[in-house]
Amino acid sequence: MNEDTRPIAVMDSGVGGISVLREMVRLMPQEDFIFFGDSANAPYGTKSTEFVRDLTIQHVESFLERGAKAVAIACNTATAAALKDLRRLYPDLPLVGIEPALKPAVEANPGGRVLVMATPMTIREEKFNHLLSRFQDRAIIYPLACPGLMDYVEAGAVDSPQLYSFLEELLWDYRNGEVDAVVLGCTHYPFVSRAIAKVLGPEVEIYDGANGTARELRRRIHAAGVARAIGEHRGTVTFENSNPTPEKMALCQKLLEIDLEN
Ligand code: DGL
Repeated sequence: MNEDTRPIAVMDSGVGGISVLREMVRLMPQEDFIFFGDSANAPYGTKSTEFVRDLTIQHVESFLERGAKAVAIACNTATAAALKDLRRLYPDLPLVGIEPALKPAVEANPGGRVLVMATPMTIREEKFNHLLSRFQDRAIIYPLACPGLMDYVEAGAVDSPQLYSFLEELLWDYRNGEVDAVVLGCTHYPFVSRAIAKVLGPEVEIYDGANGTARELRRRIHAAGVARAIGEHRGTVTFENSNPTPEKMALCQKLLEIDLEN
């Protein structure tokens, strides 16, 4: 049987989705990935839902025209805006989105206080409000819109004094043991998780949806019969960006490789 050697397309409003791409590469090292960041139109989270939905659909159309075998929307905001329509438009496509990892955070902290950081669009959209209604009798959940936070990641300023002042102001009410867990509901935020942990304190548990989304993608490409077998082929990652400055392209590579654990 011939293997399906076509690439998997992964997209985000910018470079944040690389936090999800990293998990995908780790779980599926034999696959080829194209990562598209729409930095020219970023941020998505402060725009209108219609604008982001139309853009996301256009990007997916172009991935398919160019031969992608599966698509991952590695952006909570674009998922909230477009996933429902994409599933209707492409019912046979292995397609995954991402949503804030509230479930594992609440399950690990029953009755606890859980802060959900995400973009204004994610917080106001129906998808998140539905998720919230499923868990809000099991924990005290604080949704927090964080406009402006993704800009630090787009600028590569993930350890800057400006970022720390921004976070101290944003998270002021939640410092000093006020929350037990934080859900990073935007794919840019894992790149500033160390700074978030410093501001909130080391005992706060941090959750993101990258691993769950990567596992769901693996499950769907297997179910659709388009996965490559693990073997000789070492997968590749190709970066594309709607604002492909040398700085942006170098940042993509750097974010794919940096160690987020230490
Ligand atoms: N990375 C995106 C997300 O996961 C949002 C950033 C933006 O506002 O564009 O929601």
